Amino acid sequence: MQTITLDRYADVRDAYRQHDLEQALYDAGGVVMADSLLVLHGAEHHKRRRVENRLFRRGTFRYWEKAFLRDVVTDTLAPFAAAGRADLLEIGYRTVMNLTAMVAGLDQPTGAPEEAGAATEALYRFAKTFSEGATLVHSTRDPGEVRAEVAAALEEFDAIFLQPSIARREALLAQLAAGEIAEDDLPRDVLTALLRNWDELGIDRDILRRECAFYLQAGSHSTADAFGHAADDFFSWARREPEAAEKGRHDPAILQRCVYETLRMHPASPVAQRRALAPISLRGGTEIPEGAFVVLDIAAANRDSAVFERPDVYDPLREVPADVPRWGHAFGGGMHACIGTELAGGVPAPDGHPVSESEQVLGTVTLMLEALLAAGGRPDPDSPPQRDPHSAREHFGSYPVVFGS
Ligand code: HEM
Repeated sequence: MQTITLDRYADVRDAYRQHDLEQALYDAGGVVMADSLLVLHGAEHHKRRRVENRLFRRGTFRYWEKAFLRDVVTDTLAPFAAAGRADLLEIGYRTVMNLTAMVAGLDQPTGAPEEAGAATEALYRFAKTFSEGATLVHSTRDPGEVRAEVAAALEEFDAIFLQPSIARREALLAQLAAGEIAEDDLPRDVLTALLRNWDELGIDRDILRRECAFYLQAGSHSTADAFGHAADDFFSWARREPEAAEKGRHDPAILQRCVYETLRMHPASPVAQRRALAPISLRGGTEIPEGAFVVLDIAAANRDSAVFERPDVYDPLREVPADVPRWGHAFGGGMHACIGTELAGGVPAPDGHPVSESEQVLGTVTLMLEALLAAGGRPDPDSPPQRDPHSAREHFGSYPVVFGS
């Protein structure tokens, strides 16, 4: 089979918009990803995306950010800061996992603190295991072993989180049908949306389970990864350009640009892969024959010097063309464009038009970076960060930080 690699910014953008290119990155990750939104194509994808999109309407995350996101971020960080040391990846996962569980519709026990603590522990473990299953294509471990671990984790996840969450929602939907509660009393999450549109979507319980597991991992892994890199890039910037970084540290709009610059340079998904269902001619002249395997090299396209001047330099204050997002292709594009862009990345302030604080949507990663720096977080001088030995991707396996003076 012919493989065509696209590494120019414009070619990748054009490829994302082609309806005859279907998802091909997760063939090996079927144990979590089969029939999930990210692998569906055409009418099936459109139907599912339309149902789930309603939860991600503009304005929802502005409200979330004002109402509770900041508190979730600072409350999660507080015990780590008090202990004086932590691992950035653990802070990242723990912060965002509870948020993505909420988006997915996975209720957490509200009982005794030990019970809640054990549930958070389990979610953390599941998010990491599902993530490894989804990105099996990049794993250096034995695939059979990883698949068996994921299958076991899915069973446990089902019993601890999914079944009780389904039962609560089915009871609410019955109450809605009986006129006992109003539409607004229903939780706004993926699980509720899927249960309500069950017949139209034509899904079954296994698909439902994988979709919720996919959301848990899609949201948490990429956000935790972006947070680790954003902090690392900021620390390096502060060493190279202490004055600029000092100013940025106190300006959320600059911190947001720091995060976008990190996403451009270290996209959590460095490649996308597609299969051509028909012959395709890209505007730049590339001909893609039917059946070809297409690699969208996001990491390379995000460093295309035709679009980003001095592409290998981390410059959060850089100028970019008006029709190019500062994060390049880090959130994908076309039909599979990341549904969580606004939650994770916020809404970019337009150049030269500062937005008021009430209008601003910074996004989870910027809120996390801001909180980390405000707590005095910095790399542990005695314990340097390590790369993840089990992934061919550019992920950190650990990133120790210390707090306080
Ligand atoms: C910094 C954080 C994030 C990054 C860099 C990121 C990146 C991406 C990318 C590149 C894709 C497209 C993959 C492809 O085309 O093959 C994608 C899709 C997706 N992301 Fe994200 N993501 C992030 C956060 C989130 C969050 C917080 C959520 C949910 C709460 C989320 C949910 C999804 C979903 C559901 C899709 C599939 C959309 C579809 O197929 O229609 N992501 N993400």
